[in-house]
Amino acid sequence: MAGKIVVAVDFGTTYSAIGYAFVADGSDPGDIVLDVIDKGWPGQGRRRSPKIPTVFTLERNTFKYGFQVQHDPDRVCFAKLFLDPTQIEQAQHLAKFTAVSTSLSIAKLSDCVTRYLRCLRERAFEHMVKEKGWTQDFIKGTPHDYVLSVPAIWSDKAKDRTLKCALSAGFGDESDPSSIKLVLEPEAAAVYTITTLPNCALKVNDVFVVCDAGGGTVDLATYRITTFQPSLRVNEEVVGKGELCGSVMLNRRFMEFVEKKIGPFAQEFQDDIEREFNDVIKPAFNGDDTVYRLEVDPELPDNPAEGIANGSLTVTSEDLVKIFEPVVESVLILLAEQVEAVKGAAPGRKMPVLLVGGFGSSEYLKMRISQQFKNCTVLQPPDAWSAVVRGAILRSMIQNRKIRCAYGVMAREKWSPEKHEQGPLAPYAADYKVWDAFEQKWTCKNRMTWYVKKGDQFNETKTVSFKFYRNVGLHHNLKFEIDLWAYPEGREGEDGPPFKDLDCRRIAIMKPDLSVIPKASLEKRQSPEGPYYKVLYQLEMSFDTTISFRLRYQDQLYGMVETEYLEPENDGGIRRE
Ligand SMILES: Nc1ncnc2c1ncn2[C@@H]1O[C@H](COP(=O)(O)OP(=O)(O)OP(=O)(O)O)[C@@H](O)[C@H]1O
Ligand SMILES: [Mg+2]
Repeated sequence: MAGKIVVAVDFGTTYSAIGYAFVADGSDPGDIVLDVIDKGWPGQGRRRSPKIPTVFTLERNTFKYGFQVQHDPDRVCFAKLFLDPTQIEQAQHLAKFTAVSTSLSIAKLSDCVTRYLRCLRERAFEHMVKEKGWTQDFIKGTPHDYVLSVPAIWSDKAKDRTLKCALSAGFGDESDPSSIKLVLEPEAAAVYTITTLPNCALKVNDVFVVCDAGGGTVDLATYRITTFQPSLRVNEEVVGKGELCGSVMLNRRFMEFVEKKIGPFAQEFQDDIEREFNDVIKPAFNGDDTVYRLEVDPELPDNPAEGIANGSLTVTSEDLVKIFEPVVESVLILLAEQVEAVKGAAPGRKMPVLLVGGFGSSEYLKMRISQQFKNCTVLQPPDAWSAVVRGAILRSMIQNRKIRCAYGVMAREKWSPEKHEQGPLAPYAADYKVWDAFEQKWTCKNRMTWYVKKGDQFNETKTVSFKFYRNVGLHHNLKFEIDLWAYPEGREGEDGPPFKDLDCRRIAIMKPDLSVIPKASLEKRQSPEGPYYKVLYQLEMSFDTTISFRLRYQDQLYGMVETEYLEPENDGGIRRE
């Protein structure tokens, strides 16, 4: 049977998952058998778990990961957050709190993430042979598709870093970044939940919210169903949003609570206390009046006023409500924004909220959402914790997505008195009139060409292309650099401004290499400065979760343009309180 093997990985802040499926050509998504590896991990023992801890240690070149890592003060946690420069501060904050190593450089960290992802991939292929009985011939003879899920809120730099780690780990072909697909985590969760939940009963045009509450982030996005045939397709209705208010915040608040009660004992027994909270208290808490006893240490002196007796601490429902509420409140605020944005989308009907992720499996969170949003129905699939990786396998159904900010490049254009000396551009253009020595004419610099604007619909097959040209001296380097600018939203609203302004952010440097074009086909010109090439080319943008550019010359594609993403510029100036 013709088809492909799809391997998907959900690299999470606290837990990761890997799954795969054989997808026969033309098969129905509901019939695809998804395998998520839930046993047989080193150090796992007999227990099963759809996700394995995103934690590793690197000691004298011995790499340990997941369940293998125990009580090691040098273990690396939250590696995912360190990949996103915009979140490093929060990641460090979390990491400091849990006393884990933060000393790894980004290069070393990326190397460890690559090793971790490689272990996951190898385990998946081992599983195909040992558990599914697939032969090496079948595996080698079948095309592979790789999918990696990323948070909806991630910066392009963070996506690019994760993509590079996954490619180096063997997910796809390293020389071809398009051989691995990125899928946004809430999209993946939505596809899975709707495809598999029997009583989901959603129809074409229905709008729903996905709330993926994980360990680090809680990601939300709102979609509209456009069709179920031949497979489910959804369009993003409201631009997704996420914040660092995941389940780890509960751990943090719980530890603060315990520290206040038992002082230095909390530090000493931190691992045991967190394990008890993770495995027992956190998943079980549903708001009822169950009283938990947290066993700490027989040496712990009794203190009835603080609920300490016989070496253990009493944790009441009121205590847990205080721990949960600020975190839950942040989730409710995020959810309210999405629900408000599509108010009236389904008059007379309840808006479905798909609740997934580890924290999304919490009974308490479900109860609070239902309580607060009377006009919503909360759908929590039974395997909510692994919904992202399952949905990532079913990824091929995703259609359009909304662009989160305008993207464009800056170029010069021919000076035109009608355009630049009259009308709306005139006040700006005066500053940008420059002489072009090659062409012996006036030009207008700093003009922006926006490929897309915020809110545009895009899908993986769509491309936008613009023609540019470059005058290059005969012996000059034909590999040059173009800045890629983003305009999240500023004075001009969602459209990008006509000229680069202070709200434009330089996010990457593209390095098109025109030396790949045969010299004989370049147009040679003469100027008072000497001979030069006028190279007319097209820069073609496609958008499949990340932006990529291709170089086209005389209708022939010359491959992907190398793109280096930059650290977000830090506004380090002084601030007045
Ligand atoms: N029933 C539950 N109630 C609350 N929290 C839970 C429950 N089950 C698991 N968790 C917690 O969920 C977290 C893991 O969730 P998940 O795997 O969705 O996050 P992640 O993918 O690591 O994070 P992110 O999506 O932010 O990168 C852990 O902190 C775990 O303790
Ligand atoms: Mg997750």
